[in-house]
Amino acid sequence: MRLAMIGLGRMGGNMSERLVKGGHEVVVYARKAEEVQRYVSKGATGASGLSDVTSKLKSPRIVWIMVPAGKPVEETIASLLPGLTKGDVIIDGGNSNYRDSMRRAADLQAKGIHFIDSGTSGGIWGLANGYCLMIGASPEAFKLCEPIFKTLAPPDGYAHMGPPGSGHYVKMIHNGIEYGMLQAYAEGYEILHASRDFKLDLRKIASVWNRGSVVRSWLNELAETAFEKDGELRDLRGYVEDSGEGRWTVQEAIDLDVPAPVITLSLLARLRSRQTDSFSAKVIAALRNEFGGHAVKKS
Ligand SMILES: NC(=O)c1ccc[n+]([C@@H]2O[C@H](COP(=O)([O-])OP(=O)(O)OC[C@H]3O[C@@H](n4cnc5c(N)ncnc54)[C@H](OP(=O)(O)O)[C@@H]3O)[C@@H](O)[C@H]2O)c1
Repeated sequence: MRLAMIGLGRMGGNMSERLVKGGHEVVVYARKAEEVQRYVSKGATGASGLSDVTSKLKSPRIVWIMVPAGKPVEETIASLLPGLTKGDVIIDGGNSNYRDSMRRAADLQAKGIHFIDSGTSGGIWGLANGYCLMIGASPEAFKLCEPIFKTLAPPDGYAHMGPPGSGHYVKMIHNGIEYGMLQAYAEGYEILHASRDFKLDLRKIASVWNRGSVVRSWLNELAETAFEKDGELRDLRGYVEDSGEGRWTVQEAIDLDVPAPVITLSLLARLRSRQTDSFSAKVIAALRNEFGGHAVKKS
């Protein structure tokens, strides 16, 4: 099929490459001309701007957007609109908030344009292994774009979740689960690392856990790789970003009265990881000092 890919970062670039390898004609666009050139050299067709993108497609035009959530997605859709006509499809494959996706789908539907939200998982390994796709779409738009999903995903690695918004909803919870899993592995490895009784080899532990243990997983395989590079993780600071889905998952859990302590605490642990010191801990130290004369450490 012929489609366009907007945004050629870690995800959009590799996805374009996988689509080209899978026999699709891919029109690529990114703000940096050298990024466009990189994928032209791998067989894609370059575009010089968003109007050039739409002019290089034939109706029904299919445009996949792979840029950061929020304003970049909003602006990209607004700039694409003048070049789109009834029956065309916009796919947002990034980590957008599902409520934004529902709103965008309704706005676009009023113009006769389909909106698909494809929650996309697989990271930089997706190029070789395929991407897991969680898709929110009308049945008609899903069917039209299915050959694209088939190429991007591993066998049976894509599914139609429901109407627009549902793909990003499922991806939100997927990432919430990821937060909790990462936190559990991280805590376990920290205890092993801190052991006073044993000097343990974390790479060896990760490796043996990946062979038949109930906690084996792809994340733990990646732990094995990371510890192989440096069992002490000396080059890293324990500073962990978040890109929104954890917060949205926690908010959704609260809105639904669903207790989700593991995901909630794993989000809070990320916030704590960004502080060099904690004001709340200072307050506790100060109060213990006030009521009990307990010793404090000076900053
Ligand atoms: N990385 C992952 O493992 C992963 C996995 C699943 C989903 N996602 C989601 O996929 C999306 C893309 O992620 P990524 O990892 O590929 O990000 P990335 O490597 O940072 O690439 C982002 C791309 O978007 C472009 N971009 C940034 N701001 C823009 C704007 N205001 N207008 C137009 N283009 C803009 C960038 O262009 P410039 O180079 O010019 O800035 C770049 O081409 C995000 O929503 C992310 O949350 C990422």
